[in-house]
Amino acid sequence: MKNYTLLSPCFFGMEKMLAREIKELGFEILKTEDGRITYKTGEDGIAKANMWLRCAERVNLKVAEFEAKSFDELFEGTKRIDWSKYIPYGAQFPVSKASSIKSKLFSTSDIQSIVKKAIVESLKKSYLEDGLIKEDKEKYPIYVFIHKDKVTISIDTTGDALHKRGYREKANKAPIRETLASGIMYLNPWRPGRTLVDPMCGSGTLLIEAAMMGINMAPGLNRNFISEKWRTLDKKFWWDIRKEAYDKIDEDVEFKIYGYDIDEEAIEIAKENAEIAGVSEYIEFNVANALDFKSNEEYGFIVTNPPYGERLEDKETVQALYKNLGYTFRELKNWSYYLITSYEEFEDEFGREADKRRKLYNGMLKTNLYQYIGPRPPKKS
Ligand SMILES: C[S@@+](CC[C@H](N)C(=O)[O-])C[C@H]1O[C@@H](n2cnc3c(N)ncnc32)[C@H](O)[C@@H]1O
Repeated sequence: MKNYTLLSPCFFGMEKMLAREIKELGFEILKTEDGRITYKTGEDGIAKANMWLRCAERVNLKVAEFEAKSFDELFEGTKRIDWSKYIPYGAQFPVSKASSIKSKLFSTSDIQSIVKKAIVESLKKSYLEDGLIKEDKEKYPIYVFIHKDKVTISIDTTGDALHKRGYREKANKAPIRETLASGIMYLNPWRPGRTLVDPMCGSGTLLIEAAMMGINMAPGLNRNFISEKWRTLDKKFWWDIRKEAYDKIDEDVEFKIYGYDIDEEAIEIAKENAEIAGVSEYIEFNVANALDFKSNEEYGFIVTNPPYGERLEDKETVQALYKNLGYTFRELKNWSYYLITSYEEFEDEFGREADKRRKLYNGMLKTNLYQYIGPRPPKKS
């Protein structure tokens, strides 16, 4: 059986949740670094990881790792690899991305062109029947990452990044990344059957991710991946993984979760997105002011992504909103609430120190998930 070494980048702060997912899929973690995890899988690993990982940004197939402090070393190290093992005759192999941190080689455009030339030289040894390296078939995008002079070369198996689940055709103001939203859902103990509310739901991402997790719907079910077209990967793996993902949806689980927003247009978008995702029957969306939120339920969860102040509202509006949210949420005596914002003085405005806070990056933006943890409901006898 063939093994693959895969490499998945994630937002900073999401490593723990991604590691948990990777282990749950039965893969072996080889290395965890800031913003990426390397792991070993069996021969269906590329299809399985793309289909099921909720917190990863993409799945790359690791090809090589070597040291290079000069362009000569980069060229020779890349050429030494037998690229015909990865790239079949006629396939396209753009060097799509290069990044370099704390390294002698830093010009990313030069890195890209050297790596491209070196791969061409390597492939010529295998495919030079007509003197040309043709590139008119399926794509194998090459990624180069250099950290402290150590070069990692990988091939992107995903295509459009994994956060593009296929359901968010429209988004309201400042939507949260789908991958981050699912990471937040892993960080709280909500399970189907317990009450969940996002009172500032925007385009509905947190609740749609929660509902997908609630019915065990694979995040990749409604989209395609670049490596589905690869000749080097047996199509059977994709068919099997997709069929298995359909079979694994738990249609017997029953629950309702609730989303509100003050903006009518946001609620329309959220409804459409939930419909596309196939989870609309589990979520009720309505226009409402979060500050009016009340509930007869004694226990419940609020998970929300209020305006940050930087992008949406001015500072004063956000300060007043946070202060009033503090009053509103504290009326819900036994509830837990989880709020993500980049606003550093959030707890001062909200009027209560969080039980736990977790630093998470929303892209390049540093945010905190403020966690206020309520008591567990008594066990039903
Ligand atoms: C950062 S966005 C939420 C984005 C959302 N997580 C998504 O993925 O699309 C903040 C949302 O809070 C809403 N909002 C602001 N003040 C509100 C209030 N008082 N009550 C309800 N919603 C409010 C805004 O309309 C906006 O949609």
